[in-house]
Amino acid sequence: MNGRVPVRLSVNGRVHELEVEPRLLLVHLLRDELGLTGTHVGCDTTSCGACTVHLDGEAVKSCTVLAVQADGTHVTTVEGLAQGDELHPMQEAFWEDHGLQCGYCTPGMIMTAVDLLKRNPNPTEEEIRHGLEGNLCRCTGYHNIVRAVADAAKHPHAGQIPHPGPTPEGAAVGRMVAGEGVGA
Ligand code: FES
Ligand code: FES
Repeated sequence: MNGRVPVRLSVNGRVHELEVEPRLLLVHLLRDELGLTGTHVGCDTTSCGACTVHLDGEAVKSCTVLAVQADGTHVTTVEGLAQGDELHPMQEAFWEDHGLQCGYCTPGMIMTAVDLLKRNPNPTEEEIRHGLEGNLCRCTGYHNIVRAVADAAKHPHAGQIPHPGPTPEGAAVGRMVAGEGVGA
């Protein structure tokens, strides 16, 4: 008995089976075990929102979720938004409106903003600012971020993600033990 726990989850439409330490956080599973480093760690204390992903279609701060709690779920990270060369409408809007400076907060901002538009497709500026309150930008570029979300809202699919789940049957499965690097 090595103390590891089996976890099966799908990430961006691909199923992964891993064995993880019970204390492993979802954000570290994504970054360190699956190599999905678009999800950032800004605080590790639920304060900054840089680690935001979608869990079964809902935005969550992945530093607040244990990897074992994600067993059986579908996770979407910022890497899962684009379709081939085609950016997600929210990514396009951040690009067009220069909704970033250093870019560290950007993946979390985008994932939260997509969830915001899913729940409220036509938000006011005030509602956008309220919806992004859990995401901090240390470059303080909030003006362009809010403008990007407002512009994205003009697109009919800006509140949608490509793989909201549930896990597709028969999807390719990658098996690995946490700590052994990126799996196949
Ligand atoms: Fe998760 Fe800051 S790293 S909220
Ligand atoms: Fe630098 Fe937001 S763009 S932290």
